[in-house]
Amino acid sequence: MLLSKRPRRCNKSTFRMGFREGVTFMNSLMLLSMCIMMLAAMVVAGPHAKSPAVYVVRVKGSPLSTFRGSPDLQFTSTAHPVQGTNRPDFSSEAAHAYANHLSGRHDMVLEESLKSGSFQKIYSYTTVLNAFTVKLTDHEQAKLLESHPHVVSVERDQLLQKSTTHTPQFLNLPKGAWPVLNGPENAGEGMVIGMLDTGIDPAHVSFRDKKLWSKPYGHLNKWKGGCEVVEENFPAGSCNGKVIGAKYFARGIMAADMFNETYDFASPFDGDGHGTHTSSIAAGSSGVPVVVKGYNYGTASGIAPRARIAVYKVIYRDGGFLSDVLAGLDQATHDGVDVVSISLGSTNSASGVPCLNSFDVALLFAVSTGIVVVHAAGNSGPYPSTMNSYGPWIISVGASISDRTYENHVITRNNHDYIGTGSPVKGQEIESAFRMPGTRPPIWYHLIYAEDALNNDTEDLDAEFYSYCQNLAPFNATLVRNKVLMCNFVEYSGNSAAAEFENAVKVATSLNAAGLIMLNKASSLSMKLQRVSMDPVPYSLPTAFIPDSDGASELLNFYNTRTKRDSQGNIVRFKARVKMNDSRQALFKLEAPRVTSFSSRGPVYANTITSVVADLLKPDLVAPGNEIWGAWAQNGIDVTGFVGESFAMISGTSMATPHIAGVVALVKQKHPTWSTSAIHSALLTTASTVDKWNKTILAEQPSASPTTTALGPASPFDVGSGAVNVTASMDPGLVFETDFQDYVNFLCTLPGVDANTVQDSTGATCNVVAGARSSDLNVPSITIANLVGKREVKRTVKNVFDGAEKYTVAVTEPTGVAVNVHPTSFTLRASESIAVSVSLQATGTNGAFTFGSLVWTGDRGHSVRIPVSVLVGEVL
Ligand SMILES: *[C@@H]1O[C@H](CO)[C@@H](O)[C@H](O)[C@H]1NC(C)=O
Ligand SMILES: *[C@@H]1O[C@H](CO)[C@@H](O)[C@H](O)[C@H]1NC(C)=O
Ligand SMILES: *[C@@H]1O[C@H](CO)[C@@H](O)[C@H](O)[C@H]1NC(C)=O
Ligand SMILES: *[C@@H]1O[C@H](CO)[C@@H](O)[C@H](O)[C@H]1NC(C)=O
Ligand SMILES: *[C@@H]1O[C@H](CO)[C@@H](O)[C@H](O)[C@H]1NC(C)=O
Ligand SMILES: *[C@@H]1O[C@H](CO)[C@@H](O)[C@H](O)[C@H]1NC(C)=O
Repeated sequence: MLLSKRPRRCNKSTFRMGFREGVTFMNSLMLLSMCIMMLAAMVVAGPHAKSPAVYVVRVKGSPLSTFRGSPDLQFTSTAHPVQGTNRPDFSSEAAHAYANHLSGRHDMVLEESLKSGSFQKIYSYTTVLNAFTVKLTDHEQAKLLESHPHVVSVERDQLLQKSTTHTPQFLNLPKGAWPVLNGPENAGEGMVIGMLDTGIDPAHVSFRDKKLWSKPYGHLNKWKGGCEVVEENFPAGSCNGKVIGAKYFARGIMAADMFNETYDFASPFDGDGHGTHTSSIAAGSSGVPVVVKGYNYGTASGIAPRARIAVYKVIYRDGGFLSDVLAGLDQATHDGVDVVSISLGSTNSASGVPCLNSFDVALLFAVSTGIVVVHAAGNSGPYPSTMNSYGPWIISVGASISDRTYENHVITRNNHDYIGTGSPVKGQEIESAFRMPGTRPPIWYHLIYAEDALNNDTEDLDAEFYSYCQNLAPFNATLVRNKVLMCNFVEYSGNSAAAEFENAVKVATSLNAAGLIMLNKASSLSMKLQRVSMDPVPYSLPTAFIPDSDGASELLNFYNTRTKRDSQGNIVRFKARVKMNDSRQALFKLEAPRVTSFSSRGPVYANTITSVVADLLKPDLVAPGNEIWGAWAQNGIDVTGFVGESFAMISGTSMATPHIAGVVALVKQKHPTWSTSAIHSALLTTASTVDKWNKTILAEQPSASPTTTALGPASPFDVGSGAVNVTASMDPGLVFETDFQDYVNFLCTLPGVDANTVQDSTGATCNVVAGARSSDLNVPSITIANLVGKREVKRTVKNVFDGAEKYTVAVTEPTGVAVNVHPTSFTLRASESIAVSVSLQATGTNGAFTFGSLVWTGDRGHSVRIPVSVLVGEVL
């Protein structure tokens, strides 16, 4: 099998804000310190810990989300998928009474288990979990709680990390989905997107609710949320028609002594930048000019520019805690958001049964109330089984690049064109470059190599060290002035690539250089394997990075052969000349979408202890998550090049996620009565498997061969169902629906999970026939991690088109598997459903997953595709 659990590498697995840091080829100090923090957290979490610690304690019995108002406070499960128009009312008297009852039970459990005064309850969760968070003095207390008969689980609180502008065009919104909804000024109307993130900068122009051309936002009846006003930084008026609610949750991080008032702010105000960025991607107003360092990069718009934003600040500059995230989710569910966008995840891989941890179970309950949950897949790619998102009830989003690129060109006087790029691999397309003005035309500028630009008294031994241009002192300004300075660049522990580029730019600027070229000197295999990604920071100095080490040597050679030296090697005349051209103009020429190397890959484990792979496809799909322009907070400091700017361009599955949250808002606006699973299905079955050149979508470092530097066809474990097609998702034809009980049954069929565990976690009873498998869950994909002989899989499809349509299925068999679908053809009237049976017969083994698909083509133009992923265990 391909699936080996690799050790977590801090620089690759950290989910901090989903930033590109995860793939830069050097550990940044920030990441380093984060890894240390994670280690510290894990040590404290050890069973012998004597110090005070925070625990999340789940209690038996259903939370409010599955409570349907029966007077005796009994659990009643939802028999049908929750409809968008049939949302539970958590503000009813019965709901209040039930919530009070639950939190009273939490106090009771604590009183019965522990000495009073020896613990501090931090939160009671009652909407998406029947659980509480408590600070205990030692692990003995945790054990006492664990033995209470009503307690389901006791978990140490967990440290979590945070895991545009052209993208609406790339997703064809102006001509596709927006017109269907009467234009960007209506796209998202009536929808509330809950952002579980770092808060928001409410003063940002992207969140103004008054624009000359747009109608004012009206009152939203269904909305039950509120706004937490804090005079100093989140004053009255911070919430408006656009930002409809804002709260912060910090008791967990405060209990862990990791809250810093200087920059974390005890209010919904964004002290980081991440939450402002993601909010603007999902629902920022349309037509906002993006001006950075005085240059206009175009106009920005969110995907659902008319949707409202509800802010739940649950994560902070240095990370956040599960306890606060659960509190935010509890509140969002109570408030009645339509979509929740979550761009954060655990820094550690889930242990045990990922789908049964408290985070995933809480998401299940949120979904059961009619909320569509969109979650970042994680930035731990490209290796297999690196997902940070698990449940079949949530949409796990991977990141792709869009077709936009910027290029840096260094043109030598003998007309060689050296392209500064983010890719060290020769022949691979450029997708990352500095945004810089060109050297002033029409002048050619002399090149000077850093080692030749030092003061006379510099020791030869030091010259190489100084050639990285990190220190100003040894340079001779007279020599560098008005020349293009050429410096070396190499993997350099203890600093980030961004900081190193930044330093070199400062040095060159202080020396009045005409430009700066960074030459990649490293050619190690590990460097070649990782996409070199510098932050695409705008510089006012012409700056280029030549990542291809062959190109770098050629350029140096050009310099050396032209430069005249005396017998001692002292330079007599500089003769090598270059120019650099403007790279602030976007080019739209990449083959896209394409899965980014950092995007986390499937499959997921059903159980991480036994390494049994789940019969479930993750990620669900991909959306643009590379170099996304978005609103930036006044205090955003994460990317040094954007400090003080009002827009920043950053990357990560964090950025892909709010794209999908926006799309969900558009689909739900169009189809307000659809169930969460119908919307989920609509996005997946219509996702595109081809790029804009009509070729199979590629992945950087496909998970089937992650050590290759070449692009390769994306498998479903790289791309899920494909790249979101917004236009098509508005009108999917058929949908695959699931309800709460189906998800419960899925849990019941996970290997090693018994009915009691499921009952304790969900409050619901398993209702599965003997021999049922998790591959029976009615999701729009088929995944079988161990096919022995033959398996029959059932699916039910429903026609959501408003007319009858005849469908015929086309099968692409995975290698080594014979697939038969019955019936092969059917006609469904509007709202009719049909059961379809798919038999998969193993015919050959090759020890790895193989992939195929089923595509139902309708005679009214719909096309419904589901991926099929099978690993044959035994042919029989
Ligand atoms: C909080 O952050 C500020 C600014 O970085 C720092 O000076 C201060 O020491 C920090 N406080 C604590 C308690 O860590
Ligand atoms: C700097 O370079 C200039 C020009 O070659 C030279 O005259 C000067 O002595 C150098 N200064 C030092 C400190 O090396
Ligand atoms: C530095 O070297 C240059 C060229 O060899 C020479 O002209 C200059 O006088 C030297 N400067 C000092 C300060 O030694
Ligand atoms: C930069 O130079 C390249 C190569 O000469 C050329 O193709 C491109 O059009 C130039 N771009 C701009 C903005 O001048
Ligand atoms: C894309 O390719 C498929 C298969 O090669 C072909 O049938 C289809 O017509 C092409 N579509 C376009 C828009 O070129
Ligand atoms: C997206 O869907 C629309 C409508 O079904 C279709 O015309 C278009 O070709 C699709 N785009 C891609 C890239 O698959």
